[in-house]
Amino acid sequence: MSRPVALVTGGGRGIGAAVCKRLAKDGYDVLLTYTTSSRPAEFVVDAIREAGGDALAVKIDCAAEDEVALLASHPWMARSVDALVLNHGRYDRVPAGELDVAHLDRTMAVNFRGAFLVWAAVQPHLADGARIVVVGSQLGTRGSPHGADYSASKAALQAWARSLAQDAGPRGQRVNVLAPGYVDTDLLSADTPEKRRTREDEVPLRRLGSPDDMAGAVSFLIGEDSAYMTGAVLHVNGGLYLP
Ligand SMILES: NC(=O)c1ccc[n+]([C@@H]2O[C@H](COP(=O)([O-])OP(=O)(O)OC[C@H]3O[C@@H](n4cnc5c(N)ncnc54)[C@H](OP(=O)(O)O)[C@@H]3O)[C@@H](O)[C@H]2O)c1
Repeated sequence: MSRPVALVTGGGRGIGAAVCKRLAKDGYDVLLTYTTSSRPAEFVVDAIREAGGDALAVKIDCAAEDEVALLASHPWMARSVDALVLNHGRYDRVPAGELDVAHLDRTMAVNFRGAFLVWAAVQPHLADGARIVVVGSQLGTRGSPHGADYSASKAALQAWARSLAQDAGPRGQRVNVLAPGYVDTDLLSADTPEKRRTREDEVPLRRLGSPDDMAGAVSFLIGEDSAYMTGAVLHVNGGLYLP
């Protein structure tokens, strides 16, 4: 019997790479997208294949409608997609008072519209009973003084995912949101050592989350142990933010 298929956006590095490896361990063949991280994406593919699984990386800018549309006719779509992880995202720190419309448009185009485009392209190929995980952020609920555009895009994603959960439920599809706190990836690479220590001190568990912490939560949301969860927002943040 062939293995189920997972599609992970932004799977070349950071949280996405950890998710790809974890889902492969859970028994999925993994189709992952990247935009700039071609070598890291190949490392992820190689690691999965060396462990006996199957994976393939495709270069797709999730903000580009024509590129995302190619996903719909990708050979892997001949098999149905059992798990979709909309993980990709960008975060540039711009104070809320300095945000301009071009920046806002770009963030929304990648983080929110890009996730929607991927879902729309893949939707006809989603299995009944497919599991979708949307990677949001604590900032989608809390807001942020230097990431108003990012926070708004994550709030939009969250509202969209919860709406989709209600629509897709009767087909047995489950849609949940992972809302990470601070995770040790390139997204926080602009931190000075002092800023990093401040973040760690803010977290009751006194450390940043790891990509593997997030991958474990995604695995849970995709697996049978969350069979009765849909439309949920799972905050995984070491106690940083308790909604
Ligand atoms: N790290 C945190 O503290 C944190 C906290 C809350 C939420 N999150 C969310 O977690 C997700 C993963 O972030 P991360 O921490 O792993 O950050 P990361 O290491 O910076 O990775 C970002 C990923 O998004 C992809 N990406 C960026 N722009 C894209 C585009 N236009 N089209 C397709 N893919 C694009 C990147 O692909 P390429 O490398 O190929 O360009 C990369 O794989 C994001 O949605 C982020 O908002 C992260």
